[in-house]
Amino acid sequence: MTVGIVGAGQLGRMMALAGYPLGLEFLFLDKDAGTPAAQLAPQLTGAFTDPALLDELARRCEVVTLDWENVPVDALARIASATRVAPPLPALAAAQDRLAEKTLFTQLRIPTNAHAAVDSRADLDRAVAAIGLPGVLKTRRLGYDGKGQAVLRTGADVEAAWGQLGTQPLLYEAFVPFDYEVSLIGVRSLTGEIATYPLNRNLHRDGILRLTRAPWHAPVVEQAARRHMRRVLAHFDYAGVLTIEFFVRRGKLIANEMAPRVHNSGHWTIEGAVTSQFENHLRAILGLPLGLTQAVGHSAMLNLIGEMPDRAALLADKSLFLHDYGKTARPGRKLGHVTLTESTARRRDQRAAALLKRIDSRKI
Ligand SMILES: Nc1ncnc2c1ncn2[C@@H]1O[C@H](COP(=O)(O)OP(=O)(O)O)[C@@H](O)[C@H]1O
Ligand SMILES: [Mg+2]
Repeated sequence: MTVGIVGAGQLGRMMALAGYPLGLEFLFLDKDAGTPAAQLAPQLTGAFTDPALLDELARRCEVVTLDWENVPVDALARIASATRVAPPLPALAAAQDRLAEKTLFTQLRIPTNAHAAVDSRADLDRAVAAIGLPGVLKTRRLGYDGKGQAVLRTGADVEAAWGQLGTQPLLYEAFVPFDYEVSLIGVRSLTGEIATYPLNRNLHRDGILRLTRAPWHAPVVEQAARRHMRRVLAHFDYAGVLTIEFFVRRGKLIANEMAPRVHNSGHWTIEGAVTSQFENHLRAILGLPLGLTQAVGHSAMLNLIGEMPDRAALLADKSLFLHDYGKTARPGRKLGHVTLTESTARRRDQRAAALLKRIDSRKI
């Protein structure tokens, strides 16, 4: 049975790594050759919108899923009659547009921060007047790892932010002085079976995820996040893994964004949960029973960004798991991650803090 994956980055690579033990095969589509996934599975190389390549993918695959959520929905709609596409396209469409995403949260009574669409300089002035400062101006589409965003702290920042981003549809939103950030990963099978992973606590720097710790013990917050997750999964009759990112302020959740896919904050589940998010995504889109999402111990996942630390120095820590995505190094690029698991949350937090310091100051 072959699973087609559009986009062949590290997420696709980790899906394949999780699927081989189940006897699955994979076929990728990506615009670049030499991708992280093409190092271990066959790949069709060309535009994500190339009709001939999409048709071939549909013909050869039982189901088509995504490593990258910004694949044009129209291109996927074309093949949806020839094969099953999961997650559902309406979920994809909502997640591709920050305005649609916030509108969805509001419609489903999931608290989110104040926001307004900005299509002109006058819109921006109106949004800043209505929502106030500080705020964040974001591109509605194609932003990731904090790219396509500008924080506005004073009125003097408005002009520069407009100069930087003003050529495309934007969203202005209230800056949330959060206490911390969390994400929840949920999964829904074609059969309707639903499971959620334990809550992740996430630390970002410069808009990029640096550290995830899970399970994060915050029962009230976690329960609310699960409620919100179930509402989104049910709304779309969803199949696959879905991630929702939240800000936490004074014990309350404020939804930031969602990703209709496996997520960086769930990489710890490879070693730290009974069934990884990658395996459960595959099970879900194939209509198989889901595996247990319980944590095994207390995990921390640290991203390796921009420059790969020395492999031997990392592995000298004998209980660290290294994942190298096989990418060329570039500043700001996610090249790999490491995961550690511990018997207590306290010990996990201590080790994670020490490791983060070592990686950041390149003592590894
Ligand atoms: N409105 C906001 N208030 C405070 N911090 C924010 C806000 N929007 C984004 N951030 C910070 O920037 C990070 C990345 O922004 P996000 O909206 O998640 O975009 P993406 O992950 O797609 O780049 C967030 O995880 C958070 O740390
Ligand atoms: Mg984000």
